[in-house]
Amino acid sequence: MAVAPLTGSPFPPARPDVERLQAYSAPLEGRRGLLRLDFNENTLGPSPKVVEAIRAIPPDQYAVYPEYDGLREAVVLALGGAKSHLSPDQVGLFNGVDGALHAVFQAYGSAGERLLTTSPTFGYYAPCARMQGMEIEAIPYHLPCFAFPLEEIRAALPPPGAQQQAPRLLLICNPNNPTGTRLAPARILELAAAAPGTLVVVDELYEAFSGDSVLPLLAERAQTQGTGDAFHSLPNLVVLRSLSKTAGLAGLRIGFALGCAEVVDRISRVTGPYDVNSFAVTAAFAALADQAYVDTYVEAVLEARDWLAGELAEAGVRHHVDGGNYLLIWPDSPVADLEQGLREAGILVRSMAGKPLIDGSLRVSIGTRAQMEQFWRAYQVLAGLPDG
Ligand SMILES: Cc1ncc(COP(=O)(O)O)c(C=O)c1O
Repeated sequence: MAVAPLTGSPFPPARPDVERLQAYSAPLEGRRGLLRLDFNENTLGPSPKVVEAIRAIPPDQYAVYPEYDGLREAVVLALGGAKSHLSPDQVGLFNGVDGALHAVFQAYGSAGERLLTTSPTFGYYAPCARMQGMEIEAIPYHLPCFAFPLEEIRAALPPPGAQQQAPRLLLICNPNNPTGTRLAPARILELAAAAPGTLVVVDELYEAFSGDSVLPLLAERAQTQGTGDAFHSLPNLVVLRSLSKTAGLAGLRIGFALGCAEVVDRISRVTGPYDVNSFAVTAAFAALADQAYVDTYVEAVLEARDWLAGELAEAGVRHHVDGGNYLLIWPDSPVADLEQGLREAGILVRSMAGKPLIDGSLRVSIGTRAQMEQFWRAYQVLAGLPDG
């Protein structure tokens, strides 16, 4: 006997918040074999030690559920060990920072509550808020240099005891993807201290390229205040870190949320028991133990970024560069044509069409100097620049 569809729909509708949601546009297919400057990935891949560790995984490990013993300790060690004043129970393990973000919203965001963030910023925050039925207040960066809207964010955080409802979540991407905007970590700690009723989440995915992290400041405080606990004075602060970009593990999916043990526990309650797979665990141990590989890569990217910015300036091409392994370019010709032309030349970049403040620009991820030279040669030809 046929079962009558719910509410007259030919299929069972999802929750109303999900029915209204548009799927987050994931990377396009067919990216292999091309120079991928479209998703800010590591353009060389992971450390050879990671590759070796994965190759050494015995097949019987595929058949058993993953084990996480010692991984939280390894994260603490990579972040400075005892000097970090972090403890393993302050480290949450997630299926990429995307997984951590999803969990933060599931654990903390209820329908009708507010997410405070900036615009434009990383595209996954808004769908996470929408799937919880949250409202979004996204404050624009300040033109012309995309400065952080500090005063507006401060003003949107009511002082404790005020009538106005505090936002449930404040999400700060530092440095910001895609504008590269940097905010001094001390300002973030001030915001968190001023908003005890708001969970302040700092997405530090690209901090290696700017050196702006709240973690050293938290460690310093723990030391001077004698608490020995990085999150003692700011239990409403969460820091997100990933091995996707700098360590080159984007395909394996592993990221971390750092915060006071109680908050990490709440965020971890809404994930499945084995969301992080055992290949990612093995790779993470090897990657965390080889900081030298990451440091060398970051140094190469920063050198290539400076070089490309110099070429763009000399050629009079409008661009914007700040923190992060990416920059924005505004071509004179239509952005879609340039994006397509570059694709035909074997180079992927990301059009920012439709994004507030940066519509008409391309975001170009930075790789090595040789890769950026390849990009720049192709760009010059397609954009009809004199040396092209
Ligand atoms: C700012 C920001 N946060 C989080 C993510 C997701 O990172 P992960 O690969 O760890 O899920 C990205 C990926 O592009 C990002 O740019």
